[in-house]
Amino acid sequence: TTPRITLNDGTTIPQLGLGVWQVPADETERVVSEALEVGYRHVDTAQMYGNEAGVGAAIASSGLARSDVYVTTKLNNNRHDRADAKDSLKESLDRLGLDRVDLFLIHWPLPTRYGGDFVSTWEALLELREEGLTRSVGVSNFQVAHLDRVVEATGEVPAVNQVEAHPYFANDEVRTATVRRGAHVEAWSPLGQGGGELDDPVVTALAERHGKTPAQVLLRWALDRGDIVFPKSMRKERLAQNFDALDFGLDPDEVASLAALDKGEAGRQGPNPDTFDWIP
Ligand code: A2P
Repeated sequence: TTPRITLNDGTTIPQLGLGVWQVPADETERVVSEALEVGYRHVDTAQMYGNEAGVGAAIASSGLARSDVYVTTKLNNNRHDRADAKDSLKESLDRLGLDRVDLFLIHWPLPTRYGGDFVSTWEALLELREEGLTRSVGVSNFQVAHLDRVVEATGEVPAVNQVEAHPYFANDEVRTATVRRGAHVEAWSPLGQGGGELDDPVVTALAERHGKTPAQVLLRWALDRGDIVFPKSMRKERLAQNFDALDFGLDPDEVASLAALDKGEAGRQGPNPDTFDWIP
């Protein structure tokens, strides 16, 4: 079973889950159902992914109790205005078929379309938590300055900061700042989104040495750093393989050899939050 992490609001979250970014809407119910069969109990989706309905359908047909499955969704970039943010979570809940989600995140630290910024959006999320529509609230893709702004403005530290992190882009400055402020790091794209880590000779050599796969080595590394991860796969055998990354250890030399793969900004796969200004 997956270890659970206790967040700063006292709730717990399975450290390993399923991410459904880039899972097409018409395949999502199948993929999530297969993941739940394998044993996953944590699904990370977003309004932007367009597949919340499939996540909800899989949970509904699984026969699992609501409290057995941890569900995260994220606020879309064009819904940051305070009232809109609230409406958008209610719409997500309708699509998911749930009364509340476990975690609701600001997906990107963008301004609203009406001249405000993500601080007012963060206040809206705190109200949604008060209203019981989400158990926990957090942020995603926040750089250190973004984190500081919401904490200084409200005194409320996000439960998590979900950011890109994998060996080619270790993102340690943001990770360290997140942990120092009392939030937990969720690492997105732990397999590097096909950016080459799965074929890196350092990774493949470690995999052979441990009788594991490269994906399992990358997940082990992220889990050992303490991060919450949710690798995406469309294939049941890979879902099972990724869920089974827990029964071995990397020694300090091996961890150091993976840390040495960090390319800094050059290793980033997604947009840089400091310059990203996409509002759909
Ligand atoms: P697929 O969905 O066809 O399995 P990330 O979670 O870092 O974004 O990475 C997801 C990518 O890694 C997808 O392209 C996915 O492809 C692939 N992937 C997921 N699990 C594995 C695995 N165990 N081995 C190889 N590739 C994998």
